Order: sequence, then C-alpha cells, then structure tokens
Amino acid sequence: MQFWEGFPKPGLLQFILVPLAEIREAPAFVPTLAEPDRSINLEVKLLISQKGHAIVTGGGSGIGRAIARELACEGWAVSVLDLSKERALAVAEEIIQDGKTAQGVSCDLSTRDGVRNGVSKARSVFGSIDVLINNVGIYPSAPFMEIKDQDWDTVMAVCLKSFFWCSQECLVDMMARRSGKIVNMASIDGKTPGPGNAAYSSAKAGVISLTRSMAAEMAEFNINVNAVAPGWVETPNIMKGDRWKEAIKKIPLKRLAKPEEIADAVSFLVSEKAVYITGEILNVNGGMLMD
Ligand SMILES: NC(=O)c1ccc[n+]([C@@H]2O[C@H](COP(=O)([O-])OP(=O)(O)OC[C@H]3O[C@@H](n4cnc5c(N)ncnc54)[C@H](O)[C@@H]3O)[C@@H](O)[C@H]2O)c1
Repeated sequence: MQFWEGFPKPGLLQFILVPLAEIREAPAFVPTLAEPDRSINLEVKLLISQKGHAIVTGGGSGIGRAIARELACEGWAVSVLDLSKERALAVAEEIIQDGKTAQGVSCDLSTRDGVRNGVSKARSVFGSIDVLINNVGIYPSAPFMEIKDQDWDTVMAVCLKSFFWCSQECLVDMMARRSGKIVNMASIDGKTPGPGNAAYSSAKAGVISLTRSMAAEMAEFNINVNAVAPGWVETPNIMKGDRWKEAIKKIPLKRLAKPEEIADAVSFLVSEKAVYITGEILNVNGGMLMD
C-alpha cells in the first residue's frame, strides 16, 4: 500500500503542509511517497483533525462503517481497517467526500502480524492512536456438534483475539500519553446465547470479560475501556436472511437498530461526557435484554 492510499489527495496534503513550512520559515516540504516521516504525520494530524486519531476495525461495512462516519463527523481522523481493501477505501472515500478525514487500510485482523501491519500503516499516516474501536466480527452459524476446530479457531481469532491484539498495539500509544478510549463491540449473544452460535457467543462473552479486565488494568493510565452490546441491527448480513423477521417479535421497541444508533452509543463512550464510565457493557437492544 502506498503512503497516500485512502488519504484525501496528494495535492491536498501539500496544500496543508506548505503553509506550515512557511510559518516556520523552513524550506517548503515536499513529501515523498516511499518514506513517510512520522514527525510530518503528526503535524498533518494536528492540522487535519481537532481531536486525534481513531481506528475502527472492520470499518468497511455495517456497524463499523457507521462508527467510522460518526467519529469522522465529530472531528477524528479515522483509519478504517478491513480485510477488504475495496470496502476500506470506499468508506474512507465517503468520509472524505463529506469533507472529513479518513484513510482506508487493508489488513487481516485474524493474525497478530496482520494486526501489527494494519495498525502501523494507520499510525504512519495519522500518527499515534487516541481511540480504538474493536468492531470486526464474523458470525457463522452451526449446530454445536458440527463445529470444526478450524471454524472455532477462526471465530475466536476474528471476534476475540483481534480485540486483544489491536488493543495491545494501540495501548502502547495511549499508555505513553496517559489517555485514550477503547470501545469493544460485544453482543446480546455474549449474555444470552441461542442455539447454533456457540463459537460466536463464547467469543462475545470473552469480549465482555476482556473489556472489564482491561478497564480495571488501564484505569491508572486514564484509559477508559467499555463495550457496546447490540441486539439485532440492520446490517447487510442480517438483512440477507429471514431470521430477523421472527426476532423482531421479541423486541419491545418492535424494530431492529440502525447501524447509526450503535455508532451513537460508541460516540458517547469516547466523548468527554463519558470520562467517568469504564468497564461498562452498554446494551443497545431495543429492550430485548434488560440486565
Ligand atoms: N449486525 C448485528 O445485528 C450485530 C449484532 C450484535 C453485534 N454485532 C457485532 O458488530 C460488529 C460488526 O458487525 P456487522 O454486522 O456490522 O458486520 P459486517 O459483516 O457488516 O462487517 C464486518 C466487516 O469486518 C470485515 N472483516 C471480516 N473479517 C476480517 C478480518 N479477518 N480482518 C479484517 N476485517 C475483517 C469484513 O470485511 C466486514 O467489512 C461485529 O463485532 C458483530 O459481532 C452485530
């Protein structure tokens, strides 16, 4: 991936940097494509984002896309990390078209190397990380007795281990600065599992426990760690099938959530209004589960 990938436009970057160079009476800086310079990236970050750098994993679709768009609207420079390069770039492009700041980064978050690679690419353009939204997820369904080891491991890698890996990578920045926010995407299934999704539900129960463990340990660094637990959400995968039509009968609010409504909860948790909230698992489920 090129230094520029998903970034507004090389022309725009130069437009931003040249006045800065002039202010400092330094020779005008001409960025090179091959060797991103971290100090320059930090200057760019200060200029293009009032708030800082937020990473959204699995940001190329559904809930992640809505979160990326919402955080960008609030002034964060957003790195959209996704396995699908096309989706990551498309969401970044949508955000840029709205006049906000984003980049798309393609990476496989199901391995430690893939996570390290993705986070370091994101950091090399927008600088150190202030906010991490662990959102990536897959939800294959299978009867318990038919789950293969490989399927179990894949669900755990994407839905749980990636949260652990991404958090370790990003916490290096947050702990050094003694501030930061992490929001993990849990699920109602992590609290009340149904038949056919043992691996997914177990991973989501793990996300809930991971959230609380990290919150307890990171509090001394002034880092808040929370989770959002959606019920049924109108995402492309959910709307493909018919199960939601039956599920809706059990939702007191009698409808699915919109992805933007999950993004609103995430946005609250990373905002200044939630600084005293940590270790919380916030239900956003239309009243399906009240615990
Ligand atoms: N949709 C719902 O009703 C619902 C309900 C509760 C919780 N959730 C949770 O919300 C999160 C997002 O769900 P969604 O429905 O928006 O998902 P989605 O399938 O619409 O999007 C997930 C994105 O993750 C990407 N991805 C998958 N594997 C990856 C990998 N190995 N590396 C990098 N990227 C990868 C996909 O390319 C995709 O763009 C998940 O954690 C999910 O468990 C969803």
